[in-house]
Amino acid sequence: MDLNKIQNLKNQALSSIIEADTKDELEQIRISYLGRKGGITNLLKEVPKLKPEERKEIGKLINEAKKVVEDGIKQQIKIILKQKENKDDKWFDVTMPGEKTNLGHLHLITLASQEIGDIFKRIGFKQVSYPEIEWDWYAFEKLNMPKNHPARDEWETFFIKGLKNKKYGGAVLTPHTSSGQIREMEKHQPPIRMLNIAKCYRRQIDTSHAPMFYQFETLVINKGINITHLKGTLDYFVKEYFGKDRKTRIRPFHFQFTEPSFEVDITCSVCGGKGCKVCKEGWVEIGGAGMVHPQVLKNGGIDPNKYTGFASGFGLERVLMMKYGIDDIRLLFNSDFRFLNQF
Ligand code: DAH
Repeated sequence: MDLNKIQNLKNQALSSIIEADTKDELEQIRISYLGRKGGITNLLKEVPKLKPEERKEIGKLINEAKKVVEDGIKQQIKIILKQKENKDDKWFDVTMPGEKTNLGHLHLITLASQEIGDIFKRIGFKQVSYPEIEWDWYAFEKLNMPKNHPARDEWETFFIKGLKNKKYGGAVLTPHTSSGQIREMEKHQPPIRMLNIAKCYRRQIDTSHAPMFYQFETLVINKGINITHLKGTLDYFVKEYFGKDRKTRIRPFHFQFTEPSFEVDITCSVCGGKGCKVCKEGWVEIGGAGMVHPQVLKNGGIDPNKYTGFASGFGLERVLMMKYGIDDIRLLFNSDFRFLNQF
């Protein structure tokens, strides 16, 4: 028997198997090679007629060809099924609403800090940043709060053990952004229009206080700066941040580093300023402000006879919570997605 015939038959079978793309086609191929009258079956039928010495070897080759064709068909059936599956998978309806991927966003505090930064930058403020670990000198001493001054008690300060400087005293975690005032004055003479948004630290924790929180501080020094500039800047900020219908008022208060000093109130968002259960009189406090004390200007190397200035300091979380009606500061720090995803 011609060995090439076996080889050719097998190759023909394989090439048509590979091209087949339905199960029916494969069944036809199977019948034409392996069926009762199929090509390979016919060859097998001839084996007994061969010379005994040829029988074994040729029989083996034909059986191998048979096996190859059978396996090829099985393999191709799998491929066809898989292609069908993929086709079903790939089909999609372009008009269906897309699947939403989980995209994160900046944290509320970062967003507020950027928003507040932009509001002040639009009217010419320059954003700066100063050390979080600060000398007593800048945090208290040069802001008119010498050692043992009772006013210091209001800043429930974290002191840093073992860090001391002959001139600057002990080190603290800065309890307010006002520490940046003297540093800014030391850096350059007026005009100064500084915005300092930074982390501050105090030993306090409840629904409206966290040991680490943010403040934003303004400092403006130039010739002829007076309270109307302060009031105008506060009005501008409050309208930009909270909305056009919000009003601002300044109320006499006391700080060591400003004279006169004020607390700043805005009209309540709940009642619009009429007075309600939340605010009682229609106003809620948002921070402190005042005209920079002449001694503080001197401490910063600025001549109080030539220049005057105003300053203000607000809690960033406080204004943010007021804007969105959040009543517990701890929500801002505990990374709970149920809360964060709302923004
Ligand atoms: N530093 C003050 C505080 O932390 C807030 C403050 C009050 C800042 C009056 C000022 C200011 O700049 O003029 O409570």
